[in-house]
Amino acid sequence: MGKVYYVSQNVGLGLLVLAVSALATIIALSIAYDKEKAKNQGKPGDGAADSTSMPTPSTTQLPGSLVPVSYDVTLWPRLEPNKDGLYIFTGNSSVVFRCVEETDLIIIHSNKLNLTTFNGHHAKLSGLGEATAPTIKKSWLVVKTEYLVVQLSNRLAVGATYVLHTEFLGELADNLEGFYRSEYVEDGVKKVVATSQMQATYARKTFPCFDEPAMKALFNIIIIHNQGTVALSNGREIGVPVKVTTFEPTERMSTYLLAFIVSDFVSIQSNQNNNLLIRIWARKKAIDDRQGEYALNVTGPILQFYERYYNAAYPLSKSDQVALPDFNAGAMENWGLVTYRETALLYDPVLSSTGNKERVTSVISHELAHMWFGNLVTLKWWNDLWLNEGFASYVEYLGADYAEPTWNMKDQIVLYDMQKVFAVDALASSHPLSRKEDEVNEPAQISEMFNTISYSKGAVVLRMLSEFITEPVFARGLSVSRRPHHLITALCVCVCVFENTPEIFIPDSVHNIMNRWTLQMGFPVVTIDTRTGRITQKHFLLDPDSVVDSYTWFVPIKWMKSGMEQQQYWLLQKTGRVRAVPLVSGDGWVLANTNVSGYFRVNYDPDNWNRLLSLLSTNHQVIVNRAQIIDDAFNLARAKIINTTLALRTTKYLSKERDYIPWESALRNLDYYILMFDRTEVYGALQAYLKKQIQPLFEHFKTITANWTKIPQGHTDQYNQINAIGIACSMGVKGCRELIKSWYRQWMENPVHNPILANLKSTVYCSAIAFGGVEEWDFAWTMFQNATLASEASRLRSAMACTKVPWLLNRYLEYTLDPTKIRKQDATSTVQYIARNVVGMPLAWNFVRARWSYIFQQYGKGSFSFSNLISGITRRFSTEFELQELKKFKEDNVHVGFGSATLALEQSIEKTTANIKWVTENKASVLKWFTEEST
Ligand SMILES: *[C@@H]1O[C@H](CO)[C@@H](O)[C@H](O)[C@H]1NC(C)=O
Ligand SMILES: *[C@@H]1O[C@H](CO)[C@@H](O)[C@H](O)[C@H]1NC(C)=O
Ligand SMILES: *[C@@H]1O[C@H](CO)[C@@H](O)[C@H](O)[C@H]1NC(C)=O
Ligand SMILES: *[C@@H]1O[C@H](CO)[C@@H](O)[C@H](O)[C@H]1NC(C)=O
Ligand SMILES: *[C@@H]1O[C@H](CO)[C@@H](O)[C@H](O)[C@H]1NC(C)=O
Ligand SMILES: *[C@@H]1O[C@H](CO)[C@@H](O)[C@H](O)[C@H]1NC(C)=O
Ligand SMILES: [Zn+2]
Repeated sequence: MGKVYYVSQNVGLGLLVLAVSALATIIALSIAYDKEKAKNQGKPGDGAADSTSMPTPSTTQLPGSLVPVSYDVTLWPRLEPNKDGLYIFTGNSSVVFRCVEETDLIIIHSNKLNLTTFNGHHAKLSGLGEATAPTIKKSWLVVKTEYLVVQLSNRLAVGATYVLHTEFLGELADNLEGFYRSEYVEDGVKKVVATSQMQATYARKTFPCFDEPAMKALFNIIIIHNQGTVALSNGREIGVPVKVTTFEPTERMSTYLLAFIVSDFVSIQSNQNNNLLIRIWARKKAIDDRQGEYALNVTGPILQFYERYYNAAYPLSKSDQVALPDFNAGAMENWGLVTYRETALLYDPVLSSTGNKERVTSVISHELAHMWFGNLVTLKWWNDLWLNEGFASYVEYLGADYAEPTWNMKDQIVLYDMQKVFAVDALASSHPLSRKEDEVNEPAQISEMFNTISYSKGAVVLRMLSEFITEPVFARGLSVSRRPHHLITALCVCVCVFENTPEIFIPDSVHNIMNRWTLQMGFPVVTIDTRTGRITQKHFLLDPDSVVDSYTWFVPIKWMKSGMEQQQYWLLQKTGRVRAVPLVSGDGWVLANTNVSGYFRVNYDPDNWNRLLSLLSTNHQVIVNRAQIIDDAFNLARAKIINTTLALRTTKYLSKERDYIPWESALRNLDYYILMFDRTEVYGALQAYLKKQIQPLFEHFKTITANWTKIPQGHTDQYNQINAIGIACSMGVKGCRELIKSWYRQWMENPVHNPILANLKSTVYCSAIAFGGVEEWDFAWTMFQNATLASEASRLRSAMACTKVPWLLNRYLEYTLDPTKIRKQDATSTVQYIARNVVGMPLAWNFVRARWSYIFQQYGKGSFSFSNLISGITRRFSTEFELQELKKFKEDNVHVGFGSATLALEQSIEKTTANIKWVTENKASVLKWFTEEST
C-alpha cells in the first residue's frame, strides 16, 4: 500500500474516539512509510540562493514547508461577455499560512490566471500577529508546474503565520475545468451558468492556492453576482445583500472539493433530516417538470444510511446537489455542493426509464458516500485514489440498496464492477491498485488515475475484504469520528481491533493479505481438480505469452460440493489441497466462488466442467453463480486455458434462462464474438444461433407484458426485457423489427405523443434508426434538439449512432466538433457510439486519426472519458493491418501526445495483438460450432 490518508495536524488534540479497523492498520503503517520518504525529498530552491538562476522546483508536489490555514476568497464571475467577447471572472484571495520549515520561497499553485502586480510583484505579503514579513525580492510563474513562486529577501520564521494576497482575472471558459461556464436555452433565451470542477488540479485555475489534497484549510467565500441569480458554494449562504453572497466558513478541507456556482437555477428542498437542509437545484423548467423530486426523495434516506454506517453525523449544515447542463464527469463530490450531469440527478416519472432511475440512485449514493470517506477523511496524494474511489464505488451499492430495497442492487456489482475490471486487469499492461507517489505527478497522470482499476478493482477488493472479515467488522473500522464543535476535520487512524475478533479466522494479518491484492497487479485463476483435490493458483493473463512477474495471492475461496456450502478455504501458496475433495460419487460436483465475492477466476478439471454443464441444462437454478461461470469460461477460453467450445457450451442452456444477470453476462461475452466476427462469414451462423436462444425470452416477455403493453414487475426483469427486444431485433427474430418500426412510425406521425414505453426507448430508437434511413435519423435529430429531459436527449444521441448509412454517420461525426450541436461533455462518447457500429467504426477511426491534435487539445488534458475514446474505437481491431495502423498512429502523434489516453493506447495495442491471435486460432472452430448448434 502506498500512503493513504492525510493525518491532520491536530491529531493530538482532535481525536477522541478513534475508529478501529483492519483498514486502519494498513493506513497507519503506510503513514509511517510516508514520513520516511518525505525526508529524502529534495527541497526546491536548495542551493539556489542566487535569484538569477530562478530556482524551479523539481518535483510537482509542493515542498511542504508552508501550510495553509485559511483563505478569504472573493470571486466575481461575469455572465455576459466583455467587449472582446470573452467571459471572465475577477477576484482576490488572501491565504493565511504557517511556516513549518525555514524557507525564502513561497511556492503556490496558479494556472492561467492573470495576476495583478504590486510594485512589479504578483502578490503582497504581510505578517500576522508578531510576525513581520520579509520583502518580496522577485516573483515569477512556472508554466510547466503551474506554480507562482515568490522569492523573499529573508527567510520566513518557523512557527510564524503570514498572509499572501493576490488579485487576478481569469477566463470563464466553456472547457468544463476550474471555474467554467455552462450554457442552456430556456424559452428561447440563452442562459449562462458559472460553475466549477476543481478535481483534480483545477482550483489553481480559479485562485492561487496550495492545490493538493493534503493541504487542507478553511475557506471563507464571497461571491459577487447579479440580482436575479443565486450563488452557491460549499458552505451555507449567510447573507445575500443585493449582489454579494457571503458563505459561512467551510470545514477544514481540500481545494479540490471547492465549488462555486452562479446561476438562475431554482431548487426544491426538504428539512426532514433534523436541521439538515437538503436541496436539489436545476434549470427552472426541469424543476417545474418535477425532475428533481426523485433525487430529493432518496437523498435523505441515503444520508441516514451513511450516518449509521460511518457512525458519524453528516459533517455539514447543508447538502446541495446541482444538475448542470455541461459537466464532464458523471458527478463530483464537492463537499456540501455536489455537482452532476443532468442525467445523473434528474428523473422524470413518466419519460425516464428504470435504468435512468437506477443511475440517479447509484450516483447520488456514490457521491454522498464521499461526504465522509474522501472529504472528511482525505487521501494524502493522488496515487492512492483507489481507496477513495474504490470505497465509494463499493458502498454506493449499500446506500442504493437501502434507498431501493427491492432492486437487489448488491448483486449488480458483479456485472458493473467485477466483470468490467476483470477484463482490464487481465492485461500485462495493467497496473497495481496502489501506485508509488512519485509515479503520479503531472495533471495528466493524476487524471489517468481515475480509471477502472481505481474504481472497480478498488470496489471489489474492498468488498472481498469486507466479506472475509465480515461486514460489521469492516464497517466498525470505518467509523469516522471528529470533535463536535470544531471546524477542524479529524480523521481516524489507529490500532486494529481486528485481532480482537477471534471468532473470525484469517490466515495472516489483514495488512499482509491485502498487500497481495493492492501492490500486485492482476488477479489469479484458481484451478480445482476434483479428481485429486489439488488446488492451484496462477496469474490470469489474457495473453498466455505475456511475460510478467509471477505473483501469489492469499485467496479466500467460498465453495460448495454437490449443493452443500463448505467451509471457506484459504489458498496461500501456488498449490494447495482441499481435503473435502476428491469426489467419490460420479455425479457430484464442485462449485467455487459461490457468492462471487472473491476477486479471482475459477477453472475445474474437464469432468467437473462437464458435470456443471449438464447441471445447467437440467437444473440451472442450482448453480447460483451462473453469470460468473459463463464469464469465467469465456475468459479462460480467451486465455487458452480451456477450449473455446467449452465456453460456448455454457450458453446452450440460455434458451431456458429468464434471469437478467446471467443473460447480461453471456451477452457481454458473446459481444466479443460479435465484434471479432461481424465483418466475416462467421456472423451469419452466430446470428442464427443467438436468434434461436433469444426467441423464448422474447416470447416470454411478450406474454408477461400482454403484447408489450405492460411493464414487467421485477427491477432486473425490466432490464432483461430490454435485452430480449434488442437482441431479438438485431438477430432477426420474426416480428421484432416490424413491431419496433411501427412504434417509431407512430411517434414520427405525432411527435408530441411518444407511444414508446420509457424502458424500451433506447432499444427502439436504435433499432428503428438502424433499419431506417435519413427520415428516421432526421426525426431523431429534431427530437434531440427539442428534448428538455437530459436522459431523453442522451438516448437519442446514442441511437443516432446506430444508422447504417455512411454519410449520416460522417455528418454526425462532424457534429461532435461543433459544441452548438453536440455539447463538449458528450463529444468523445458520441464518437465512441459511432465506433460501436460496424459501419461507423472505420469512419470514426479515420476521423480521430485525421484530427488527433485538435481533439487532444480540446479534450485530452483532463477529461475522464477521453481515455475511453481510443479503447472504444479499437475494440474491434483484429487484423494485422489494423495493428499496424494503430502503431503508426502512435508514432505519428508522439509530438502531440496522448495525455490521459496514454495507457489506453498501450492497452489497445496489446488487445489488438491478442485479438489477432485469437481470431486466427478460433475462427474455424467457432464457425463450425455455431453452424452445428444453430440448426
Ligand atoms: C476583493 O474584491 C472585492 C470586490 O472587488 C472588494 O470589495 C474587496 O475589498 C477585495 N478585498 C481585498 C482584500 O482587496
Ligand atoms: C491575460 O493576459 C494576457 C496577456 O496580457 C492576455 O492575452 C489575455 O487575454 C488575458 N486573459 C484574459 C482572460 O483576459
Ligand atoms: C417522492 O416521494 C413522494 C412521497 O413519498 C411520492 O409521492 C412521490 O411519488 C415520490 N417521487 C418520485 C419521483 O419517486
Ligand atoms: C477442444 O475441443 C476439440 C473439439 O471438441 C477437441 O478435439 C480438442 O481435443 C479439445 N482441446 C482441448 C485442449 O481440450
Ligand atoms: C396479443 O396479440 C395477439 C395477436 O395480435 C392476440 O391474439 C392476443 O390475444 C394478444 N394478447 C393480449 C394479452 O393482448
Ligand atoms: C418541442 O418542445 C416543445 C416544448 O416541450 C413542444 O411544445 C413542441 O411541440 C416540441 N416540438 C416537436 C416538434 O415535438
Ligand atoms: Zn467518486
